[in-house]
Amino acid sequence: MPKPTPVEDLIIPPQDQKICGTICVCQMTAVLSCVAIVYLTVAIYMPYTRAIASGIDPTPIMCTTTRAVNKDNCDWGSCGEWCLSKTSGACIQIYVNVRKNGTSLLLAECGSAANKTCYGIDQENAKKYHCIRDECRNLTGTFNCTEGKCINITDAFECAFRDTDPPLKCSGRRGKITCIDVHGLFSCSRGTCRKIKTPYNCDRRCVDIPTRHKNVIVLSGDRVFLARCSKLAQEDGGNVVWNDSGEEVLMLSCHAVHNGTSGVVAVDCINAALLPRTDISDLTNFTYLQYLYTVKAVPNRIIAPSEVELTMANDSVPLLCEGPGSSLRDD
Ligand SMILES: *[C@@H]1O[C@H](CO)[C@@H](O)[C@H](O)[C@H]1NC(C)=O
Ligand SMILES: *[C@@H]1O[C@H](CO)[C@@H](O)[C@H](O)[C@H]1NC(C)=O
Ligand SMILES: *[C@@H]1O[C@H](CO)[C@@H](O)[C@H](O)[C@H]1NC(C)=O
Ligand SMILES: *[C@@H]1O[C@H](CO)[C@@H](O)[C@H](O)[C@H]1NC(C)=O
Ligand SMILES: *[C@@H]1O[C@H](CO)[C@@H](O)[C@H](O)[C@H]1NC(C)=O
Ligand SMILES: *[C@@H]1O[C@H](CO)[C@@H](O)[C@H](O)[C@H]1NC(C)=O
Ligand SMILES: *[C@@H]1O[C@H](CO)[C@@H](O)[C@H](O)[C@H]1NC(C)=O
Ligand SMILES: *[C@@H]1O[C@H](CO)[C@@H](O)[C@H](O)[C@H]1NC(C)=O
Ligand SMILES: *[C@@H]1O[C@H](CO)[C@@H](O)[C@H](O)[C@H]1NC(C)=O
Repeated sequence: MPKPTPVEDLIIPPQDQKICGTICVCQMTAVLSCVAIVYLTVAIYMPYTRAIASGIDPTPIMCTTTRAVNKDNCDWGSCGEWCLSKTSGACIQIYVNVRKNGTSLLLAECGSAANKTCYGIDQENAKKYHCIRDECRNLTGTFNCTEGKCINITDAFECAFRDTDPPLKCSGRRGKITCIDVHGLFSCSRGTCRKIKTPYNCDRRCVDIPTRHKNVIVLSGDRVFLARCSKLAQEDGGNVVWNDSGEEVLMLSCHAVHNGTSGVVAVDCINAALLPRTDISDLTNFTYLQYLYTVKAVPNRIIAPSEVELTMANDSVPLLCEGPGSSLRDD
């Protein structure tokens, strides 16, 4: 674990000073937080920062990954330099929103709890098939390809489509040339890949979420926590923010859900919304749940604030994965 380094000690090139100040705050406090808070915005989440805990956690700031840009050549990368100098070569740039912490809630008197994990694709760790290296010669399944590098999304997504382009043979002697710059969604069978034409519809392969008799649904990264609870209170203060009336289902996005001494605790919750009981059946799937949450449910800012309210900086903050300490050691 890199040793925390005081900010003043950083050697910062003058032109980067402002940016670095911001990064340090976000960086040091939220390294792990960035992982799970992708919530509902992106289907494929990118826990780039998983492994890096700098051990510094003084301020209540969270980051939400808004976009990741793959660049062949850039002057900063999200996993590498720490504001020290220009790097050259390929890198990933991640932009995040910076926001204050959400509300921590105590779910009281809960029963019939269920926990469902909906697997996403971890783009950082997913195996990439590089067609130029002839690795696409035996692709089978559904693949998301970016400039000749393909990721297997078969297990995480179910894609409905009508048309494909004529097949490309990535197998065979000329396969690597044929498929050198495949880009888009492909349906492949033993190295024969057809580009899926728009319109297509890829659903998270996550069905049978047990919503029967549940009145609280917490989305937390890839996990969905469901339970029937009689009330919700703020963790500090104990103010009751919601009572079960039997007619509503409460939906929330939280950073984590765990068992506490006096009940289930949902940490750093945002975007609370209420849905009429009747809108939800006994079993549902992730896509439909997402639709209900974002389109049908009525936001309730008393239970938990919306992410927009908590946002301090929009999509402007670049994120570096390295802790300050570790790059300084190289100096
Ligand atoms: C903000 O949330 C993070 C992650 O849940 C937590 O580690 C941190 O202590 C929280 N900060 C405050 C001030 O509540
Ligand atoms: C190609 O992939 C299929 C299934 O993915 C596997 O059964 C087969 O053995 C593979 N063939 C080669 C030559 O790797
Ligand atoms: C992609 O994933 C599917 C489902 O797990 C598997 O059957 C297939 O062999 C995989 N293809 C490759 C090339 O890894
Ligand atoms: C395919 O990958 C691109 C770039 O990484 C991403 O934006 C897109 O959402 C992915 N599409 C699917 C269906 O997974
Ligand atoms: C919940 O119920 C309690 C007791 O019945 C009541 O005092 C409280 O005001 C209610 N809170 C809300 C948010 O409805
Ligand atoms: C849900 O499951 C995960 C892992 O399976 C566990 O870490 C988490 O604590 C569980 N949550 C509850 C409230 O049971
Ligand atoms: C939380 O506590 C309940 C009841 O004590 C138990 O059934 C459940 O498995 C616990 N979950 C975790 C993740 O510990
Ligand atoms: C998800 O549920 C909706 C509504 O119940 C249904 O129309 C849709 O086909 C389901 N999707 C999948 C992948 O099961
Ligand atoms: C961030 O963007 C949203 C929507 O684009 C806007 O409503 C909000 O005021 C912005 N917040 C800040 C702090 O710029």
